[in-house]
Amino acid sequence: MSKIRMINVTKTYLPDKDKYKKYIDEIFANGWVTNNGPLVRRLERRLADYLGVKNIILVANGTAALEIAYRTLDIKGYAVTTPFSFVATTSSLVTNGIKPIFADINPNTLNIDPKNIKNAITKSTSVIVPVHVFGNGCEVEEIEQIAKDNKLKVIYDAAHAFDVQYKGQSILNYGDISALSFHATKLFHTIEGGALIITDDSLVEKARYLINFGIQNKESIPELGTNAKMNEFEAAMGLCVLDEIENIKTMRKEVYEIYNKELYGIVELQQKNENSTLNHSYFQIILKNEEQTFKIQKALIDEHIFPRRYFFPSLDSLSYIEPKQFMSNSRDISRRILSLPLYPELTKSEQIHIISVIKDNI
Ligand SMILES: Cc1ncc(COP(=O)(O)O)c(C=O)c1O
Repeated sequence: MSKIRMINVTKTYLPDKDKYKKYIDEIFANGWVTNNGPLVRRLERRLADYLGVKNIILVANGTAALEIAYRTLDIKGYAVTTPFSFVATTSSLVTNGIKPIFADINPNTLNIDPKNIKNAITKSTSVIVPVHVFGNGCEVEEIEQIAKDNKLKVIYDAAHAFDVQYKGQSILNYGDISALSFHATKLFHTIEGGALIITDDSLVEKARYLINFGIQNKESIPELGTNAKMNEFEAAMGLCVLDEIENIKTMRKEVYEIYNKELYGIVELQQKNENSTLNHSYFQIILKNEEQTFKIQKALIDEHIFPRRYFFPSLDSLSYIEPKQFMSNSRDISRRILSLPLYPELTKSEQIHIISVIKDNI
């Protein structure tokens, strides 16, 4: 019996196995498996160079990167953030005792709208937490100005923004801290993993204690910390994936461009920031209404193709949000958006099939 091939929304990129084994041999030879090992340090140096950033700290995952960012900057009180993101953007705030106040998105770019940020700021606001949604650069200069005018910190959830440039330099250099995710589904990954990009050099040492229980040295524990360390096996995966990143980017770009060419004018697409580059990590279609979204989703699932309602639900609707809030653009978009399969190994014929199912059901 022939096995039906399922097409999921994403598929983890696995690099050359022999190369990974060489790193594993290295780990076994020196016996150093975690606690700021040589491969973690090597990956930090290579990523800083590749991304064009000054200070990078590798951590266990993107959620931990956000949480360490809040603690590094001593964030208390209220955060102005976007309701249209993955749940970790909001849940990481709530876990750290910070109350999210949402500023609705621009329904075209899907990013937080700077004019709504201004309206959401109060005396108790201490930070703005925007997200470069699907790698689409936020209006970083406008956000920087708002933060300056109101004496606020800016922490970018840059989980999707690996290798995105804004006006010729890394978008990760904007704001006080950017938090990246290197989860297995991401463009660049370390199985589980993440990173903090820190603008102010004087905060780097504190962030390093915080990921290691607050320990500065054997006799000094100056901060309340946690355990958010990346291990050597994860760093080895990152080193292997980084060697192949140009190829991964080219393959993703090819898939992205076919979707863009074939679906442009047929469905709504995210409007991209003209000042920032694309990393071709995701491709979303926005349908007319929820009914049409369910119809397309079902038609694809019937063909063993699994798009994802990403992001859904809108984060202002989460049960644990207090005070209750209602962000109409985010709620509307989250009900009629679908993420299409996008990964390097997706074949052209699979992609043509996906596109024809969508076109036949519009
Ligand atoms: C926008 C966004 N923020 C945060 C995260 C959390 O990252 P991680 O899964 O590495 O904890 C993700 C993860 O997928 C994400 O998409």
